[in-house]
Amino acid sequence: MNALLITGTDTGVGKTWVGRALGRALSQAGRRVVAIKPVETGCADATSAGEDGALLAAATGQAEPLAALIRYDDEVAPAVAADAAGEPIDLDALMLRIEALSAGADALLIEGSGGLLTPIAWEWTIVDVARSLDAAALLVGSDRLGTINHAVMTLSALELAGLEVAGMVLTAPETPDASTGTNAASIARLAGLDRIVSLPRLADPALAGEALAPVIAWIDRVGSGAR
Ligand SMILES: Nc1ncnc2c1ncn2[C@@H]1O[C@H](COP(=O)(O)OP(=O)(O)OP(=O)(O)O)[C@@H](O)[C@H]1O
Ligand SMILES: [Mg+2]
Repeated sequence: MNALLITGTDTGVGKTWVGRALGRALSQAGRRVVAIKPVETGCADATSAGEDGALLAAATGQAEPLAALIRYDDEVAPAVAADAAGEPIDLDALMLRIEALSAGADALLIEGSGGLLTPIAWEWTIVDVARSLDAAALLVGSDRLGTINHAVMTLSALELAGLEVAGMVLTAPETPDASTGTNAASIARLAGLDRIVSLPRLADPALAGEALAPVIAWIDRVGSGAR
């Protein structure tokens, strides 16, 4: 099974959007794909269709899970929300659930919360989840001013953590700035990463299939052990 961590340079940069597009494209290609948001914050008691976990599930058509595995009310980092709720997350229990839900899948997409080192608990991050799944990482960032620094820092952290980088997707911001269109080349030059795709602003992630074709090839490449 190919496991992929969809992480971001920041919150709100397009991780779910890219996950939905990838989930749909993989499932249309006949792959059994499961997309999971392990922890989501800012959730009301009842699951809404606009939550990340629900959007990912709708994109793949998976039977379960239909929402994030752990959901908190407060829209703060998961470790902070867990403290407020008095419900800390047990990493081993979380991993068992992810493994059970992805048993028999060809591809597992995991969407992190916020950026790479956002605390999910005070003792561990999504890096530990990815390591335990032997997942490669796909870094998502917004094609806007500030992203070069965030991307290079995140790519360094991924390297330090020993996680394989499948590639990077830059999503077009709602309002372009002078850097939009230039960031991919800068990140490639600084980080030595040649697998960067720029995604235009689209009405629906279902329209991104073609633009993300290289990303699927990168996922297959890391999954084949050709690292
Ligand atoms: N290529 C795109 N075309 C159109 N809209 C996009 C695109 N990429 C992202 N968006 C929009 O940008 C917003 C932020 O994207 P998204 O929710 O995927 O970010 P995220 O990184 O998953 O955020 P979070 O940290 O909250 O999980 C959303 O409203 C999403 O629909
Ligand atoms: Mg999201």
